[in-house]
Amino acid sequence: MRRVRKCVFPVAGMGSRFLPATKASPKEMMPIVDKPLIQYAVEEAVAAGITDMIFITGRNKRSIEDHFDKAYEVEAELAARGKTELLALVQGIVPKHVNCIYIRQPEALGLGHAVLCAEPVVNDEPFAVILADDLIDNEPPVLQQMAQVYEQRQCSVLGVEEVPREHTRQYGIVRTDGAEPGAVSAIVEKPRPEEAPSNLAVVGRYILSPRIFAHLSKLQAGAGGEIQLTDGIAALMREEKVLAYRFQGIRYDCGSKLGYLQAMVAYGRKHPEVGAAFNAYLKSL
Ligand code: G1P
Repeated sequence: MRRVRKCVFPVAGMGSRFLPATKASPKEMMPIVDKPLIQYAVEEAVAAGITDMIFITGRNKRSIEDHFDKAYEVEAELAARGKTELLALVQGIVPKHVNCIYIRQPEALGLGHAVLCAEPVVNDEPFAVILADDLIDNEPPVLQQMAQVYEQRQCSVLGVEEVPREHTRQYGIVRTDGAEPGAVSAIVEKPRPEEAPSNLAVVGRYILSPRIFAHLSKLQAGAGGEIQLTDGIAALMREEKVLAYRFQGIRYDCGSKLGYLQAMVAYGRKHPEVGAAFNAYLKSL
């Protein structure tokens, strides 16, 4: 039986929807209260038993590497001032048994291309993909739920949720009306509402069979002129089972300003340090 040990984080995108905030720093480093989005994603992967974190990075993404690295100056300073709690917080960002691996994607050719860049490190193993801007709040976390499904079924698993019909143009949309419940029978990238096979959208959680690489390497540019992961999955689905999994959890689309603000409010309200005061403030408005 195979287990998922590796997770790919495509983080090379430009983050144009958050300019000017993302002019000189990556969108994945934007915080929800006091933790950057990419750290929530890595913590979710750790909870799912992943040990190898593979970041597909690009220009201007150095701060992501620094975030998961040792920070001698900060640590020495906190130690000298006796700030032991903060020191433990900074040192505990990545557990000791976890490896962080960085691969540069020289050109932003699309999500499918970014995932293909991970092939030399993933090799012949099943692997997860997390898109950090889909922040999903749940205990147990979504990737852990999906890893359990993978362990039982030993096939690719896509995290899906229903979206309003008029939003299908923002997502990969699946159809699951075949003989086997939950098995994907069609997947289309960003279809118009009238052409969408359903309103079941793939959000940023995938567990994929390594066969996907062979398909991604043959793809031409698809929707939006990009090499699409969705098109690779459409090809994979014709030779192997791909399951759509309706996860438990509340998703915040932190790739949009509204979703980002909603996440900030939700996480702020339950934050151990400021939650009570923040709730009182919201009430007073
Ligand atoms: C990407 C994928 C899309 C998926 C979405 C989830 O699109 O291409 O299939 O549904 O993430 O957030 P993007 O949001 O990068 O345009």
